[in-house]
Parts: sequence; C-alpha cells; structure tokens
Amino acid sequence: MSLRTVVLLSGTGTNLQAILDQAASEESRLDPVAALSDRAGAQGLERARRAGIAAIALPRDGFPDARSWWGEIAARLRALAPDALVLAGFMRILPAELCEEYKGRVLNIHPSLLPKHPGLDTYRRVLEAGDRWHGTTVHFVTHKLDAGPPIAQARIRVGREDDADSLRARVQACEHVLYPRVLEWMSQGRLAMGDRHAMLDGSDLLEPLMFEEGELF
Ligand code: GAR
Repeated sequence: MSLRTVVLLSGTGTNLQAILDQAASEESRLDPVAALSDRAGAQGLERARRAGIAAIALPRDGFPDARSWWGEIAARLRALAPDALVLAGFMRILPAELCEEYKGRVLNIHPSLLPKHPGLDTYRRVLEAGDRWHGTTVHFVTHKLDAGPPIAQARIRVGREDDADSLRARVQACEHVLYPRVLEWMSQGRLAMGDRHAMLDGSDLLEPLMFEEGELF
C-alpha cells in the first residue's frame, strides 16, 4: 500500500523537501503526487517541479471570491484523489467542508507545543513569554484552528542565547524528521483519528508522542 499525498504550502517548502526525500528512500510507502500553493512564487512549487511531481499554483486573487477559489481547490484535489492532505506551511485556514470531506486524512505541522501558542509568530511569543521549551506539533486537522487531535511533538530547550532565528532553525530541523516519520505511520495504516484523540496502533494517544530534539537525529 502507498499513501497518495498532496502537500499544501505557501512558502519555502522545506517540509515538502523532507517528505520528498523520505519518499525517495527504498523502504518508504509515501507517494507525494502534487504540491498545491496559494502563492505562485512559492519556492516549494519549484521543489515539486524538480522532483517531477505536479506543482499547482492557485492564488486567491485569480478568483472573484473565496467561495469560488476554494471550490476550484476542492475540484483539483478531487481529481488528484489523495489518501492524505498534508499541510506544510500552508498559511490559510481550510474550510469546514474540506476538513469534513477528508476527515481523518488531513495533517498539519505547527511550530509550537500545542495547545500553547496556536496561530502566528510563535517564535517571538515563546521568547516574550520566557518559555523554557519550544517545539513543533503534528496534528490532525479539524475545523478548529490548530486544535485537532495532536499526534506527535518534538521539543527543544530554549537557551539564553536563542533568538527567533535560532529557534526557527532548530524547530524546523526537528520538523524535517518528525513529519515524514508520522506520515510513514499513516502509510502503514497505523494512524487514525478517533472521536477525541489520535490513535496509533489501535490505542488512543491521550497525550501526543513526545520526542526530544536530541532523540531525533
Ligand atoms: C513550518 O515551520 C511550519 O511549522 C510552519 O510554517 C513553516 C513552513 O516551512 N507552519 C505554520 O506556521 C502553520 N501555522 P516550510 O515552507 O519551509 O516547510
């Protein structure tokens, strides 16, 4: 079995790259078939082209209203028939209808230890709050922003010398290992979304699986 995957992104696409690299390894069951972006110039689309998968740009301003834009995205996705929708730096909120259509098959990665710091600008907020830990969360997407059942987290210790840039670099390095790993669990049929929790190997994850920065590399 392979996992037909469409990656939605808005920016540099380093997480897409990590997924493409993982998919190229012999034992992988990941099958990334397309990247779709709301930004025509997104560097992630160039990565998709280089890897020989479809690169689809659908900027919002090419459509008269949000409804017709999301309608076109939904139609393109249906044509691609993905097993999984993978949000990787996609800076838009998925409408409830899409969350419902792909229920249990949409994943997101968010740069914080959810439920702490949903939304934007997490690095600055972590520093301002004086948090000792920061990190990233892979979770199922539901219509509630950054609040779907969490699956796995990687955490890093915030040092005195850290600034937003150094935190971002360390968190993203964790993401590039964590996200492909979770996607492989999905491709192996080990991961599901239950009513309230994510489920791994048939058991509810009452807490997300936690990896320390040092354990991932
Ligand atoms: C990632 O760090 C991801 O966690 C974050 O955007 C970055 C995209 O980087 N996502 C969010 O902030 C979503 N709220 P990339 O384009 O290089 O993969």
